[in-house]
Amino acid sequence: MAGFEPTQTVSLDALGFFKDTTPAHHLDVDKARSHFPALKTGYIYADNAGGSQIPQEVVNRIADYLLYSNVQLGAGYSVCAKSVRRVREGKEAAMALLNATSVDEIVFGGSSTGNMDALMKHLEAEGEIGPGDEIVVMAGEHEGVQMAWLENRYLPCTANNGLWKKLAARHGIEIKYWQATPTSRDNPFSITHKTEDLLPLISHRTRIVAFSACSNILGSIIDVKEVSRVVRRSARKCGARKLEISVDCVAYAPHRRIDVQDWDIDYCAISFYKIYGPHAAALYVRPPSLRFSSSLLANELVYGCSGIIPYLLNLTPAHDIGATYDWITNHEQTLVQPLLEFLTHPDQRKRGVKVVGDERDGLMRVPTISFMVRGAEAIDSAKLAQMVNQRGGIGIRWYSYNCPSGSDEPDLKGGVARISLVHYNTIEEVKQIINILREILYDGVH
Ligand SMILES: Cc1ncc(COP(=O)(O)O)c(C=O)c1O
Repeated sequence: MAGFEPTQTVSLDALGFFKDTTPAHHLDVDKARSHFPALKTGYIYADNAGGSQIPQEVVNRIADYLLYSNVQLGAGYSVCAKSVRRVREGKEAAMALLNATSVDEIVFGGSSTGNMDALMKHLEAEGEIGPGDEIVVMAGEHEGVQMAWLENRYLPCTANNGLWKKLAARHGIEIKYWQATPTSRDNPFSITHKTEDLLPLISHRTRIVAFSACSNILGSIIDVKEVSRVVRRSARKCGARKLEISVDCVAYAPHRRIDVQDWDIDYCAISFYKIYGPHAAALYVRPPSLRFSSSLLANELVYGCSGIIPYLLNLTPAHDIGATYDWITNHEQTLVQPLLEFLTHPDQRKRGVKVVGDERDGLMRVPTISFMVRGAEAIDSAKLAQMVNQRGGIGIRWYSYNCPSGSDEPDLKGGVARISLVHYNTIEEVKQIINILREILYDGVH
C-alpha cells in the first residue's frame, strides 16, 4: 500500500510492545484456559464482549440438572427438593457476583434487555415514573444493532439507553444525555465520560440516572461509587423527589468486581453469557417494594450459573472473589497495553488508524478496544473485521456505532472494528492479532 509502509520491519518485542509487566500476583492463564474446552482448539476468541466461552463446570451443572434433577419445582418429594436447592444456588451465585444482600433482590430472566424491560413495565404499572420526570442516560452507549427477543419479535435496543428512551417516549419524559469527551488532542474519537459533564444535568426533576459501568465499545470504566455519591449529593441539593441509579454492568462484570451495596445503587444488570455462563441474566433490584418477575428461564440454566463462582474462586489460592478480580485486572492490563500501543503508534496514526475510546491504558480501561481506519486509504470497519476473520482461527467483530444525542458527536459513520479480550486471552494471542492487523494495514490485501 503506497504511502503507508512502516519505515522498517522490526519485531514487536523490539518495539517494546511487550514490556515485562508481570504483576506481583499473576494469573495462571494456562490453568484458567484448561477449564474451557473451546479454548483447547487454539481458536482466538476476540469477541468476548459479544459473549464469552463457558467453562466445563458450568456445562456439567447444566447437564447434571437435566440428567438427575429435572422435575417440577414445588412438589415436595426428595428430587424436587434437590432441584429447588439448585435453583436457589443459581440465585445465590448472582447475589455473590453483585454483592447483593438477599436473593429476594435478584430477578432472573433470559436477557438483561428482557429484565430491564420488565423493570420498566413494573415502574410504569406502579405509577413510579411519569410526566415531569427526567431520565439521564449516557451518550455514546452502543445501541442499534442489539436485538432483543421481546413480545415475540426482535426489538433493536440495549438494556440501557434504548429501553429508557422508549419509556420516556411513552410518558413524555425528558431524556438528558451525559456526553462523552475526547481524552487526546490527536484523536477526536478518544472519548470517555467525565463526572463533571454529568452533574449539570441533575435537576429537581431527575428520576433516573442510567449508565453503563463499562462501555462495550469504548472499553472505559466508570467509577460507579464516586458517580453515585456525587449524583446523589447533587440531587439532594436540587431537591429531587426520588432519584434512582441504574447501572448496566453487562460489559463490566467479566473484568471487575461489582458491589451494589458499596456503590449505593438501585438497579444493576448482568448477563451471564458474557461472564462465562449460559444465556441467562440477573437484575439487582434494591427497592423491597418492587418485586416482579421477568421472562421465564429454564431452571437448568439458573443452576448452571452457580458454576461460575467455583470457576472464579479457583483462579486464586485465596479463593476470594475480590482477589480473583484483582488478578484478572492485572492480567488484562498486559493485554490492553500492547494493543493500544500498536494502534496509537505514529505509523498507525499516519495510516489512519483511530481508536474509538480512551487511548490510555490503565485501570480505567478493559481489553475491549474499538478502532477504525480512516483517511486516504480508509478501510470500512465491517470489511476490516471480515478481513481479520477470513484469516481463519480468529473471531473479532464489527459494530455500527452511533452516538444517540445527535449533537456534536464525532462522525462514526462506518462503525468500528472491535477486539474484545478477557482474562483467558494470552499475550501470544495479542501478538498474533497485531501481526494480522499489520498485514491488513500495510500489505494492501484488500
Ligand atoms: C453493555 C451491554 N448492555 C446490555 C446488553 C444486552 O444484554 P442482553 O443480551 O442480556 O440483553 C449488552 C449486550 O451486548 C451489552 O453489551
